[in-house]
Amino acid sequence: MKSKINVSIIGGSGYAGGELLRILLCHRQINVVGVTSRSFEGQSVTRAHPNLRKITDLTFCHPSKIPKCDLLFLALPNGVSMGLMSQYKNKASKIIDLGADFRLRNKETFELWYRKKHLLPNMLPQFVYGISELHRDEIRKAKFVACGGCEATVSILTLYPLIKHHIIKTDNIIIDAKMSSSQGGNSPSLASHHPERHGVVRTYKPTDHRHTAEIEQELAPYTNKINVSVTATTIEMVRGLLVTIHAGIKKGISLKDVWRAYRTEYIDEPFIRIVKETDGNYRYPEPKILIGTNFCDIGFELSHRENRLVAIGAIDNLGKGTAGQAVQAMNIMFGFEEKTGLEFPGLHPV
Ligand SMILES: NC(=O)c1ccc[n+]([C@@H]2O[C@H](COP(=O)([O-])OP(=O)(O)OC[C@H]3O[C@@H](n4cnc5c(N)ncnc54)[C@H](OP(=O)(O)O)[C@@H]3O)[C@@H](O)[C@H]2O)c1
Repeated sequence: MKSKINVSIIGGSGYAGGELLRILLCHRQINVVGVTSRSFEGQSVTRAHPNLRKITDLTFCHPSKIPKCDLLFLALPNGVSMGLMSQYKNKASKIIDLGADFRLRNKETFELWYRKKHLLPNMLPQFVYGISELHRDEIRKAKFVACGGCEATVSILTLYPLIKHHIIKTDNIIIDAKMSSSQGGNSPSLASHHPERHGVVRTYKPTDHRHTAEIEQELAPYTNKINVSVTATTIEMVRGLLVTIHAGIKKGISLKDVWRAYRTEYIDEPFIRIVKETDGNYRYPEPKILIGTNFCDIGFELSHRENRLVAIGAIDNLGKGTAGQAVQAMNIMFGFEEKTGLEFPGLHPV
C-alpha cells in the first residue's frame, strides 16, 4: 500500500465532480493531479467551485491533457464514459465511474432502460458495483468500480437487510423518492429555471424509473422474485434524497425481527445509522442533517393492522449517493482506512 496516491477527475466542473474534489482535497493520502473541464479549461477550479477558495490553486485542464495517475474518477453525464473508456483506461491503473454506463451487468438491461446501444459491453463484467456495504471484498480487488445511482443506493441500503432476512414480501415493493435539484447536474434547462423550479412538489417519474434496474439487480440474489416500483418527486431542496418504501410483511414478523435484521447487517458499518426514536423532532431519517456527509440514515415502522412495513432511507445525493460512495470505495481499493476523508459529521442547525 502506498502512503499517498495521485488521482484525477474527468468532469470536475460538475456537481458530482466538485463534491469529489472537495472531499479529495482534504484526504491526507491523496494528491489531486488533474481536474478536467472543457468549458473552464485554463481557469481556476474555484471558478466552478467557489467553496474551494484558499483550499487549492488547481486549474482545470482539457480532458485530452489529463496526466497519468494511480486512480481516475469519471464524473461524466450518463452515456459518455462508455464512449471514452478505451482512452481513459490507459491513463490509470484503476477507474471509478460515477455514471450509469457500467452499473448494470447485462447489456440488454442497459439498452432497455437507457434506450441507447451500449458501446462497450465486453467491459461490463469487469466492473464491480460501488456500494461497499454489499461488495467490500470485490471492491478491494477491483480495477474498475461503477458507483450506484443516488436513488438506487439509498433504496438498496434500506431494503437489503429486509430482503436478506426474509422480513418483507418482495413481489410488490413501492419506493416513493423525494429528490433534490442538484441531482439534475449543473446544466440549466426550463425545468430547472428558478420560476419553474422554485417551491415545486413535482412528480416527474411516477413509474418505470431507470434506477429500478439497479435496485432489482443488486437485491435479486437475496430472494426468488423481486418486483420494485419507483416514483420520483422533486421537491424544494438543493441537496438530499429521501425514500419512503412500502412493502407487505411476511407472516409472524415482529418489530424485534426488523431490528435484528438491520443490526445484524449494519452494526459494524461506519456510515449506516439506524434512526428510529419515540419522541423529538428527528425520530426518522432526514436528509437535511446529512448534507456534506457520507451517512445513510435508515428508519422504519411496522403496522400489523395494515400488514405493512414502511422503511425510510435518507442520504446526501452528492455524498453517499455518489462522491462519498466513490471515496469510500477508493479507500478500500487502496487499503486506506475506510473512513479517511469522510469524517465530516454534518451540520445542525442547517
Ligand atoms: N448530481 C448527482 O446528485 C449525482 C448523483 C449520483 C450520480 N451522479 C452521476 O454523476 C455523473 C455526473 O453528474 P453531475 O450531476 O455532476 O453532472 P454535471 O453537473 O452535468 O457535470 C458533468 C461534467 O462532465 C463534463 N463533461 C460533459 N461532457 C463531457 C465530455 N464529453 N467529455 C469530458 N467531460 C465532459 C462537464 O464539464 P465540461 O462540459 O466543461 O467538460 C462537467 O464537468 C452522472 O453520470 C450522474 O449520473 C450524479
